[in-house]
Amino acid sequence: QRTLDMQGKKVLVSAGPTKEMIDPVRFFTNRSSGKMGFALAEAAAERGADVTLVAGPVSIEAQHPSIKRIDVVSAKEMYDAMNEQFADKDIVIKSAAVADYRPKEVQTSKMKKKEGDDVITLERTEDILKKLGERKENQFLVGFAAETDTPIEYGLGKRKKKNLDAIVVNDVSREGAGFEGDTNIVSYINKAESVIELKQATKKQIAVQLLDCILQDMKDDSI
Ligand code: PMT
Repeated sequence: QRTLDMQGKKVLVSAGPTKEMIDPVRFFTNRSSGKMGFALAEAAAERGADVTLVAGPVSIEAQHPSIKRIDVVSAKEMYDAMNEQFADKDIVIKSAAVADYRPKEVQTSKMKKKEGDDVITLERTEDILKKLGERKENQFLVGFAAETDTPIEYGLGKRKKKNLDAIVVNDVSREGAGFEGDTNIVSYINKAESVIELKQATKKQIAVQLLDCILQDMKDDSI
């Protein structure tokens, strides 16, 4: 019985892409509609959790009235919002597709076209997950990994490296999985390195099953 089984739990979810400005009219971004993250926020709110959703620029709305939504644009803004919200949360799920690089300099006026090629120097953005992994006390921290090659091996390594309690591996090269669509196919990997494969289902159904996995692991951890 799932009804209200997350009452009293504080959940923080990040969703959507980030946008890194080049000049006032151009930007770099990642593919992500926000659907997976919003589904997680909604599934948790429906089960009675107190949910905060940090959303990059997306065109969808959170349906559940109790979700507290914080809108951000860039990786730096998402980093600040997640760090500010982190301390009192029980479960933190990072499904956002954060840009790994941003232009080193943001031009204040529109860049003029040149003859031939041009070069934009990029710098790394803040690694939000790594920082939260370092700060972690009692939070159950879950990362996502969008991969196309050897996703499970990659996920196992990333979970350890970033000090995560679990990682959700999303093989975005599979039909019916990944960006923009209404369905997904993922694998959930926990600290014991058990790999739970969730078959193709709507993002909402996947979200419900991921929350089941997380709650089970939290229960096992507390024994
Ligand atoms: O939004 P949808 O259209 O529904 O698509 C869903 C999704 C495919 C975007 C989602 O299921 C997913 O896989 N999200 C993670 C996408 C991603 O950027 O993966 P990554 O392997 O690049 O990043 C790994 C993890 O590090 C993620 O938890 C990410 O939030 C985090 N990260 C990445 C870069 C960075 N600078 N800071 C981070 O915290």
